[in-house]
Amino acid sequence: MSAPIKQAGAFESPSAGVEHSVRLRLSQAAGLIRSKGAKGSGPFRVGVDLGTSAVKVIVLDGLGEPAAAILRLATVVRDGVVLDYIGAIDILRQLVRELEKRLGQDLVRCATGIPPGTGSANSRATAHICEAAGLEVTGVIDEPTAAATTLHIREGVVVDVGGGTTGISILHDGLPIQVADEATGGTHFTLVLAGRFGIPFEDAERLKLDTKQSSRLFPVLVPVMEKVASIVARNIDGYRTDRVYLVGGAASLAGFSGVLADRLGLPVVVPPEPMLITPMGLALNVPGGTGDGN
Ligand SMILES: Nc1ncnc2c1ncn2[C@@H]1O[C@H](COP(=O)(O)OP(=O)(O)OP(=O)(O)O)[C@@H](O)[C@H]1O
Ligand SMILES: [Mg+2]
Repeated sequence: MSAPIKQAGAFESPSAGVEHSVRLRLSQAAGLIRSKGAKGSGPFRVGVDLGTSAVKVIVLDGLGEPAAAILRLATVVRDGVVLDYIGAIDILRQLVRELEKRLGQDLVRCATGIPPGTGSANSRATAHICEAAGLEVTGVIDEPTAAATTLHIREGVVVDVGGGTTGISILHDGLPIQVADEATGGTHFTLVLAGRFGIPFEDAERLKLDTKQSSRLFPVLVPVMEKVASIVARNIDGYRTDRVYLVGGAASLAGFSGVLADRLGLPVVVPPEPMLITPMGLALNVPGGTGDGN
């Protein structure tokens, strides 16, 4: 089965509307993950994103530019809620030590994130994991709101489709006036492929990430895209907004922004490196930096 991928519709404007400096910073962070490099000098600010699919840590230097970054696939959190507390501490400790080695300096202050509405116990658990990894936690921020900090958004809607959930934040005057988080994320796309082709989850995940297969997979994935779109439509109903920013790893799926744009009747912007938007916003929310977000 194959069908043309939904191309940018009348309402889709992928990545237009993201400032050049923001795009640059995101691509620098992605480059640092790939190169395992480090640059810049402190005081450093750290963003810790304990996600369902991956733990991501981004360090910003004293000017608010990416200094080091790391990503490790892990399943210590499910749907935004900490499942494996000890495992999360263990992984985060390793990642922080590795970043400190690259930078040649200790890391001290971090902000971390939780999906909207996952409760104070989850917020405390997430903060404790960071503390146990040797970091001082300056704040626990809701994830789509952190994403808005990265993108310099004061008005509009941010939709973070990660591994487990879809987080939604509606911003007005730079503040979140409505936040929500609902099950359906990258894992659900993978499960649909596993079911359709009768293959194990890991094989389906590889298939999903193979861009050469995008046109063949698109029709199979459309129902999940539409499910996300209906979650977003329901949550933004009654709010005036002129665009939606789509972030999180699943935002990279070919055709996803087009389906969302058509369903919502709004332009959908997909920034570069959508998986890094939230962790970078967490780092920007650590007070005391001279760069963006302060
Ligand atoms: N290039 C890509 N194309 C499609 N999907 C992708 C791509 N890269 C990553 N993903 C998917 O994105 C998901 C991970 O995204 P992300 O790191 O934002 O999630 P998370 O923060 O770990 O999860 P959550 O926010 O739900 O707790 C996975 O399901 C992964 O398969
Ligand atoms: Mg996430």
